Amino acid sequence: MRVEPVPALEGHIAVPGDKSISHRAVLVGAICEGETRVVGFGRSADTEATIEAVRALGVQVDEPEVDSLVVHGVGLHGLQEAPGPIDCGNAGTLMRLLAGILAGQRGAFELAGDESLSQRPMERIAEPLRSMGAHLETEDGHAPLRIRGGPLRSISYVLPVASAQVKSAILLAGLYASVGETTVVEPLPTRDHTERLLERAGADLTRAPDRVVIRPAERIALGEIEVPGDFSSAAPLLVAAAIVPGSDLTVHGVGLNARRTGLLDVLERMGARVAIYNRRSIGGEPAGDIAVRASELVGTSVTAGEVPVLVDELPLFALAACHARGVSVVRGASELRAKETDRIAGVVEELRKLGAHIRATKDGFRIRGVPSRLRGGSVDARGDHRLAMLGAVAGLSSREGVEIVGADAVETSFPGFFALLDQLSAAPR
Ligand code: S3P
Repeated sequence: MRVEPVPALEGHIAVPGDKSISHRAVLVGAICEGETRVVGFGRSADTEATIEAVRALGVQVDEPEVDSLVVHGVGLHGLQEAPGPIDCGNAGTLMRLLAGILAGQRGAFELAGDESLSQRPMERIAEPLRSMGAHLETEDGHAPLRIRGGPLRSISYVLPVASAQVKSAILLAGLYASVGETTVVEPLPTRDHTERLLERAGADLTRAPDRVVIRPAERIALGEIEVPGDFSSAAPLLVAAAIVPGSDLTVHGVGLNARRTGLLDVLERMGARVAIYNRRSIGGEPAGDIAVRASELVGTSVTAGEVPVLVDELPLFALAACHARGVSVVRGASELRAKETDRIAGVVEELRKLGAHIRATKDGFRIRGVPSRLRGGSVDARGDHRLAMLGAVAGLSSREGVEIVGADAVETSFPGFFALLDQLSAAPR
């Protein structure tokens, strides 16, 4: 796939439903009473793996339209043993959250993943779930996971790393803890989609800025859930608009959960022109239309405390920083090494091939920006959807274009990504 430079990006677009919320809507819908209608479902390889996973556990899922589902919940204790291992594909959110649910089910389950997922750390969920009473084996800390669920007890757990997936796994298991309350303490606030969804479903949950407390439930029910557009899918296009001179782009109906939108604050700090219109609530999440106009950017530092609110957008921040005057630094982001690929190594090595002045540090990167287009060249997506989209945005803002090797990795989260780019590049000006 080649992405050619564009003179400017202009127009009004929408992006598919949020991946994090789509996973959660199906997983929570599966253990609800009755039907859950999911509207604006973000269909992708990752979220399709979630549909297949709950089907393997005996849950009926109808797909009346490409972006709407009906999940026929079987109740908190109704999941059945699957005939074989459940394939979580590339989806860390699926594997970790489903492990939390299965910890409380009667029966034995095995969760497997693709090569990338099988290298990601799983003890971070196995350890707290074991202390709740589940039998959970990993293969040297990795998938496949073998889970024998059963009666659970509540725990109080301080997360050693800021991770919404680990927090969510424990909260979901907490629904099944027979007595008392389960507390998760967070070192830094991470995305709270699980908490919002469980509250909506009637779970008994209390929140404080640094902790969540959940009490066991007898039944939960969602009814209907509308999914806002995925901020992380809007982000490549917003960054493209911020760095390609003359651009003016609006992305409509995007989730604006403050625990996801750190990139907007950082871009504004760099001098980007960002405006939010039509603030509203979609499916219990803040949402709105985001407009970005290109402007001259200056470098900035992203601190460790900010990392969780833009963790998936740090590769894009690095690209924006390449186009910003002065030095930019990211610190405290060693979690990037545990994503679908080592995103510190991937971002640095791939952007350097395009002419960027960027180097890796142990927990982030350092960039010397130049307010002009990158040369261009070739980027290897390394099987990572975020790196494929990074390469594409770099292509739009390059002098010579960028070839993306393994561009089909975008299927993981945003199958229509390249079609949308084509549409934008062809838009009348
Ligand atoms: C996610 C949480 C984050 C994020 C991932 C999706 C989620 O991972 O990077 O893309 O849906 O909960 P961690 O919990 O590992 O930080």
